[in-house]
Amino acid sequence: MSYERLARFYKLIESITIGPPLLNARLAHLDRLADGPVPKHALLIGEGNGSFLLPFAKRFQDTQITVIDQSAAMLEIAQSRALEAGIDITRIIFRQADMRSATLPTNYYDLIVTLFFFDNFDESTVCKMIPVIEGTATVSAQWLLADFQAPEHGWRRLRAQLWLAVLYGFFRVFAAIPARHLPPIETILNSSDFKQTARKTYCGQMLYSILYQRSV
Ligand SMILES: C[S@@+](CC[C@H](N)C(=O)[O-])C[C@H]1O[C@@H](n2cnc3c(N)ncnc32)[C@H](O)[C@@H]1O
Repeated sequence: MSYERLARFYKLIESITIGPPLLNARLAHLDRLADGPVPKHALLIGEGNGSFLLPFAKRFQDTQITVIDQSAAMLEIAQSRALEAGIDITRIIFRQADMRSATLPTNYYDLIVTLFFFDNFDESTVCKMIPVIEGTATVSAQWLLADFQAPEHGWRRLRAQLWLAVLYGFFRVFAAIPARHLPPIETILNSSDFKQTARKTYCGQMLYSILYQRSV
């Protein structure tokens, strides 16, 4: 899988496909996060071109941030956008790594962020990644997740299925993603020791955004 070729066009692709609801889903729980203790160490996995990083880093100026992405081009774009936005990047680590094999510190991050990331993988890969992420999260960590879903019934389901067919077709060709369809991300995470504290949907329920709190 490689987002290298797409990195420069990713923002454009986003704006001509789903558009603003994607950003709304990414930022859905920032106010709620801000009401709680400030995250000390945040891990942004598969962050891409920095669409979440920029507003997050501006709002949480005391948080140390690690951005992990497999694509060097995505990391470069995220870093230059952060610099252009006047963000102090000395507190941000930009790390090129494959999350399927990355080594992470134990019991370290009190905020995990996975936005439109797990949809790249099949179910068994997601199942393998969740315990790795749990291992790097603190016992009271929060987790922000946003992704696609197909609503249960009706025209919204049909619409979501059409969009998903188009998007999977596109990303399989241009980014060689291994997934052919959405893995049951929410179901998998629901069986972890992270519990949902807030959930919102966007774009005719085609997108969801969840804030989880760990309770072990
Ligand atoms: C669909 S994009 C999502 C980007 C961003 N989170 C967003 O909200 O738009 C998926 C991102 O995950 C990265 N990625 C894909 N496979 C990865 C892996 N195995 N390890 C780390 N990052 C990966 C890609 O390079 C890309 O930046």
